[in-house]
Amino acid sequence: MVGEQSSISATGAIGVLREVKEFERRVALTPSAVRTLTERGHRVVVETDAGLGSGFRDDEYRSAGAEIASDPSSVFATATLLLHVKEPQPSEFALFGPQHTLFTYLHLAAEPSVADALCKSGCRALAYESVEVDGHLPLLVPMSIVAGRLSTQFAASFLEARHGGRGMLMGGLPGVEPTTVVVIGAGTSGRHAALVAAAMGAEVIVVDLDLERARDVATACGPLARAVASGPGVIDDLAPTAEVMVGAVLTPGKKAPIVITSSTLARMPEGSVIIDIAIDQGGCVEGVVPTTHAEPLRSMGHVRVSATPNMPAAVPRSATAALVAATLPYVSALADGYDQAVVRHPELAGAVNVANGRIVHTAVAAALGQ
Ligand SMILES: NC(=O)c1ccc[n+]([C@@H]2O[C@H](COP(=O)([O-])OP(=O)(O)OC[C@H]3O[C@@H](n4cnc5c(N)ncnc54)[C@H](O)[C@@H]3O)[C@@H](O)[C@H]2O)c1
Repeated sequence: MVGEQSSISATGAIGVLREVKEFERRVALTPSAVRTLTERGHRVVVETDAGLGSGFRDDEYRSAGAEIASDPSSVFATATLLLHVKEPQPSEFALFGPQHTLFTYLHLAAEPSVADALCKSGCRALAYESVEVDGHLPLLVPMSIVAGRLSTQFAASFLEARHGGRGMLMGGLPGVEPTTVVVIGAGTSGRHAALVAAAMGAEVIVVDLDLERARDVATACGPLARAVASGPGVIDDLAPTAEVMVGAVLTPGKKAPIVITSSTLARMPEGSVIIDIAIDQGGCVEGVVPTTHAEPLRSMGHVRVSATPNMPAAVPRSATAALVAATLPYVSALADGYDQAVVRHPELAGAVNVANGRIVHTAVAAALGQ
């Protein structure tokens, strides 16, 4: 049941649901975001222990002005704007109704059963990944930053001998050579992978189809970094001295291109490491198989490869903070009502995936064959 403030109006609350998807530890609002919303006069109901995976206790949410609900059905009964991080799970399907607006990562093209359940419920569902501003996806960017930064952190650890790595310090030390890190793809995640590697003292090579973009990242990395235009044979030529390769490529709307082939792998030094960030789009290493946080490394010949699709799950507290910073302005607008919100943020209209019992997002509908 909803806790101590349940005398307040039972409509129009913002509901924060505990994530039920396996291994998901992020939460849709931090206590400080809750404070921002309650100070603006909104009522916020948080499911008990929703923040625990990210290190936030119920009493921190209470202090920020939230009410704590003991179960999901209390949140669904009290809130009209429902916040999640990942798509709803089967245990929640029957709780949605036409009074609800859901805002979360949905990826419905890959989740037909979720699409079906949301359509049947009559709710309106907006997807974080469908918010687009001038060709950019502002609610995906924070997770690409997290994945990019983590990729270097992981690589540094996987280079250690205890992981079967080459036994090298990422940044070397005075008088001892650093590792060479080749980052393929100079977009959001590649930029942050390169920046962290450079900050650790590694020698960084940034490769992109777009040389200007690669140059821009290399310049930000400092004097040890260089930029290379991608092209036939380029990655193979870099392989013999690359102790680390980070695959951070994206071809929007398509499977990731294979940029690290079996021949690249064969040329890399013994015990070197590849982090395939693009695994959520099929991966950019030839023959790669997804890994998990429990078993993050797999041997491919004499090279160790990590290809975990949900990298941000490793750092839920940082990932939650980054996500909420990006979503909060939209949550605040939606809490005032959908019609007002789309006036303030027209991009929210394009984020609606489900309304009036059907899939209304053209690309999602096409992917689902509707
Ligand atoms: N594993 C995870 O947890 C996780 C988290 C976030 C993002 N991702 C994935 O990481 C990938 C990169 O995301 P992003 O936001 O950095 O993308 P982005 O669009 O910002 O950057 C991609 C870059 O790849 C470059 N590129 C494309 N094809 C190339 C090629 N053949 N050779 C060299 N460069 C090439 C593009 O020019 C672009 O600069 C995506 O697949 C994304 O889905 C994974």
